[in-house]
Amino acid sequence: MGKRVVLAYSGGLDTSVIVRWLTDKGFEVITYTADLGQGEELSQIPEKAKAAGAVEAVVEDVREEFAREYCLPTLRALALYEGKYPLTAALSRPLIAKKLVQQAKKWKADYVAHGSTGKGNDQVRFELSVWALAPNIEVIAPVREWEFRAREEQVEYAQKHGIPVKVSREKPYSIDRNLWGVSIECGPLEDPWEEPPEDAYEITKSPLGAPEDPLFIELEFKEGVPVALNGKSYSNFASLIEDLTSMVAPYGVGRIDIVENRLVGIKSREVYEAPAPAVLYEAYRDLLSLVLDRFTFHYFLTHIPGEYAKLVYEGLWFTPLREAMDAFTSILAKRVSGEVRLKVYKGKVEVVGRRSPLSLYRENLATYSQKDAFDHRAGKFFTTVWGLPLRVLGETGES
Ligand code: ARG
Repeated sequence: MGKRVVLAYSGGLDTSVIVRWLTDKGFEVITYTADLGQGEELSQIPEKAKAAGAVEAVVEDVREEFAREYCLPTLRALALYEGKYPLTAALSRPLIAKKLVQQAKKWKADYVAHGSTGKGNDQVRFELSVWALAPNIEVIAPVREWEFRAREEQVEYAQKHGIPVKVSREKPYSIDRNLWGVSIECGPLEDPWEEPPEDAYEITKSPLGAPEDPLFIELEFKEGVPVALNGKSYSNFASLIEDLTSMVAPYGVGRIDIVENRLVGIKSREVYEAPAPAVLYEAYRDLLSLVLDRFTFHYFLTHIPGEYAKLVYEGLWFTPLREAMDAFTSILAKRVSGEVRLKVYKGKVEVVGRRSPLSLYRENLATYSQKDAFDHRAGKFFTTVWGLPLRVLGETGES
């Protein structure tokens, strides 16, 4: 039996050329394409893969699995890489890797392959995930080792082998899209001083052109799961994300422009569109702060969002560390039931109301009106004790 490889296939020029290139190297190529809500034409994928030389082409709808098992835990951790990036692309890699391993076992392939370059993060995420799940599978990354230097050489190779190259003038950007959001790199974005041109954005409208009236939305959560949007119930989290995205993207919500630190040490200018995370993170954070005691909430904020984001960014999804952090946030999530009302207006998302059966807010404690039930005399003793260290410090005369 010849050498068999399962390739993560997008249907684009790069991965089509990889199919041919691997075939030329003596591999039998099976392509695997995950439908993550990238919104591209997936029905043509098997034809394209086979035209490029694949012996089998698998396409699978994994949107709900992606939403529940990858986006939801990340939302519960309020994870933002370097404080801004909701990991839209990063999150999809461990899922694709897991599927590649499953397919490799099914087709008795010793190899899996991906189309990532040697200077990005995705190679790391694919490879670490594959190894964690199946250490004996070998990973091939043709783009890291093939002979093509310039794009033109690749196009020439494609044409020579009858691989269709899109005639339409392609955008100069490298785009990765799924239901959680879009990542955009390259072209004019490589100058970090230049504002991203409008045509860089795939799904959001400019806040300048957004409707004049604000949009109000209501999100309901049950034990840490978003279950209803504007009164409509969803058992499918992926559908809720998709509907929420189409609702708020016209308001220019969720645009992010950062220079981020890649794993390989390079700084890179990245533009993201993540309208659904923009809304869901705000809502989740707000409800969490309503239902958690101060000690737990502060511990969470200090220790989880940044660490979880780093772990996802750095390709460490399949680790006990991630499982342990998920266990932590699941316990908190049990209390996250209730509703959040948000106002979306010209690129901005604001929580304007929240309520929960488990709310720890007590009006009679917070109020300055006649309903006030707090014993103000307690304040004197509290301050005396809390302030004791500073009083002693003050006595030393140094400040
Ligand atoms: N920099 C982001 C990340 O590492 C996005 C990479 C996605 N790839 C792309 N072709 N835009 O997660």
